[in-house]
Amino acid sequence: MTIPRKVAVIGAGDIGVGWAALCASAGWPVAIFDLNPATMERASIEIERRTRALVALGRAPEAIVERGLSDLDRASSLSDAIQDADWVIEAIHEDVAAKQKLLAAIEQVAGVDALISSSSSGLAPTDIFGRMRRLDRCLVTHPLNPPELIPIVEVVPEGRTSVAAITRAVGYLRALGRHPILLKKSIPGYVVGRIAAAVWRECIDLVLRGVISVDDLDRAVSLGPGIGWAAAGPHLTYHLAAGEGGIRGFTQQLLASFESWWQQLAHWAQLDPDQQRVLIHGIERAYKGKVEFLREARDRRLNAILRALEQARAPSGQESG
Ligand SMILES: NC(=O)c1ccc[n+]([C@@H]2O[C@H](COP(=O)([O-])OP(=O)(O)OC[C@H]3O[C@@H](n4cnc5c(N)ncnc54)[C@H](O)[C@@H]3O)[C@@H](O)[C@H]2O)c1
Repeated sequence: MTIPRKVAVIGAGDIGVGWAALCASAGWPVAIFDLNPATMERASIEIERRTRALVALGRAPEAIVERGLSDLDRASSLSDAIQDADWVIEAIHEDVAAKQKLLAAIEQVAGVDALISSSSSGLAPTDIFGRMRRLDRCLVTHPLNPPELIPIVEVVPEGRTSVAAITRAVGYLRALGRHPILLKKSIPGYVVGRIAAAVWRECIDLVLRGVISVDDLDRAVSLGPGIGWAAAGPHLTYHLAAGEGGIRGFTQQLLASFESWWQQLAHWAQLDPDQQRVLIHGIERAYKGKVEFLREARDRRLNAILRALEQARAPSGQESG
């Protein structure tokens, strides 16, 4: 797999910075561009901090990281950023019209062979790339936050994306140590967002109904199913949950309980302003520290979990779930 000569990241919010940190940590030349000069300044500091944090966490070798950082181009225009890039990553806010306009502009300046990907969290690729003339090289590569730590990236092709472009995107992501997951078809929120939204709605509902506090709810997820799911996804978890009978035994024993709970789960689709206020107040009261410190502590825990999983996995990868 050839690696890109240069990656251009457009949009320097949390996700753009994460992509830039990830690519720089592999020693890849990266250009980053944001319309907002204040964001560019902040991003420049954040990329260095987040890239060097990967060294401190033992996730990237210092010499390669320093090479990536010394090649980092804080571009002053879209065309400067994109020039000579083999991979252009769009990472602006989740607004379909803004993405369409930007991607049409990217198409004007990108080299004929450049791969173009969007970081969208759940918009349809047909909408995102709706104003482009060539679709064979366009697809969504949806990372999780922070992209430089969480390995999963959802790859969502547009109907007309070429197989070569998908293979190339998957190759780049693997070279960055990611685990690309290819969706067979696009669906709003893709897979990860839908799972997160379904679980979060029930979590919010349990808090708002006074069943549990914010921090106990978070612990119930992260030290309960969350830690189990890190070792084995939900299907494998239930296949292993009822002895030798596997999933057949589990459905016989517990499907009826799940069916009765499914009937009672939250199914609202909006939070009214009062509910939002109560939720925000509850979360801010539970987590009083500065967001920056809370994030650093979270990243340390994430790294410890990833490290443990990497060490525990069989080299064949056959036991993964
Ligand atoms: N934040 C997350 O947890 C998360 C996770 C995965 C994917 N995503 C997706 O990644 C994308 C970026 O998310 P984010 O949270 O980093 O957004 P953000 O709002 O924090 O940052 C977007 C940046 O894009 C810049 N921008 C806007 N228009 C621009 C343009 N035309 N040219 C250059 N820069 C421009 C803005 O100035 C801003 O700094 C979104 O599509 C989002 O859905 C977000």
